[in-house]
Amino acid sequence: MKPARVTEFLQKMDPQSVAVFVSAHEIRRNHDTDFEFRQDTDFYYLTRLNEPDCVAVLAPGHPEHQYILFVRPRKREEEIWTGLRTGVEGAIREHGADAAYEIGQLDVVLPKYFHNVEKLYYRFGQHGDFDHKLIGMIKYIREQVRGGVFAPTTITDPATILHEMRLRKNADDLRDLRRAAEISAAGHVAAMKHCKPGMYEYELEALVEYIFRKSGATGVGYPSIVGAGFNTTILHYNTNQCRINDGDLVLIDAGAEYNVWSGDITRTFPANGKFTRAQRAVYEAVLRANKEVIALVKPGESFMKLHEKAVDVLAEELLQLGLLSGSKQEVIAQESYRKFFMHRTGHWLGMDVHDVGRYKVEDGWRTLEPGMVFTVEPGLYIAEGTPGVPAEFYNIGIRVEDDVVVTESGCEVLTTGVPKEANEIEATMKESVMVAV
Ligand code: GLY
Ligand code: MN
Ligand code: MN
Repeated sequence: MKPARVTEFLQKMDPQSVAVFVSAHEIRRNHDTDFEFRQDTDFYYLTRLNEPDCVAVLAPGHPEHQYILFVRPRKREEEIWTGLRTGVEGAIREHGADAAYEIGQLDVVLPKYFHNVEKLYYRFGQHGDFDHKLIGMIKYIREQVRGGVFAPTTITDPATILHEMRLRKNADDLRDLRRAAEISAAGHVAAMKHCKPGMYEYELEALVEYIFRKSGATGVGYPSIVGAGFNTTILHYNTNQCRINDGDLVLIDAGAEYNVWSGDITRTFPANGKFTRAQRAVYEAVLRANKEVIALVKPGESFMKLHEKAVDVLAEELLQLGLLSGSKQEVIAQESYRKFFMHRTGHWLGMDVHDVGRYKVEDGWRTLEPGMVFTVEPGLYIAEGTPGVPAEFYNIGIRVEDDVVVTESGCEVLTTGVPKEANEIEATMKESVMVAV
């Protein structure tokens, strides 16, 4: 049987068209060692085929083959080194292809599926080598025009269909996303319980990722950010090499990847288990923004409204803290809040941590629909030496990030497994931890 997403995509294509999706390939890390393989997300979403060097073709108007796979051949001498392959027979038997070929036949066979088809769905820019190959094939078909053959005249991005599908998660997707979020939360809880001044950031990174793998995740959805002190104020800090000192805040932004679905959680806590007055004040400001944004999430709400709410709350709080002056209207209109809050409040979440899907559609910012999943992650970042800031606020970088799914009546927060109230965090940090590391 064809994968459900292939069938759905076929139904949404123009009848006289062909779509081509290319898998990821192995990438050299150094000398003769490759990076860990990660499948191209569009390819995996459609096919569930987790091998390099494959091509999937969808051809709704073809008389016999609507779903065609090109795969690596079965070769005992290679499989003995790198594992069993699907092969041509497996592509048909296990993956529901109507026809399958060895990838080595691509140059000869693929152009035939383009003959006399007006429209080709292909996403340029993802796989540079393949872009050139495809252009060559089309050029070659054009040259055969006197033989009664014509090449596609329109090449269009399949994202218009596929990324709209990926934006709306179904029950199976949500089951895996819930698990990714649960595992992510468990990693953060372990870090809170284990953290002590004098440890190094990488020790917490190792612990969080140990919990992910131990819980059945394949790894991380993105490089873990574990920053202490000044490093909490660097948005995408992930070298994770520094000592965690008494009095520091620790910011961890880490998410497990489970079945190719990613969690994305940030928590910030005091290294010694007790927030200072200034740390707690800034923490409460960010937490309020996080909670007020989440309270807005329901079908029909504009995605942009969520960011505006975070800005509104944080502007108010920054004035209250004495870190900005003027009126709230001025702070918002002049964007002076950007000195401390310089990123967006959230992003779509799914098989990619920054998942696909447009944020703006023809008539403005997208409105929320059930099944959409995104992060809510306001933050404030006050680096040492920031002009006009009292020293007690130095090196306070705080982000509180949760993952939410829009439901029929509101939203479900997927990341409740890790505390975010300041008192709860302090209580959790008092609990002793028995982690076998
Ligand atoms: N971890 C990247 C982000 O939160 O967007
Ligand atoms: Mn995020
Ligand atoms: Mn994050």
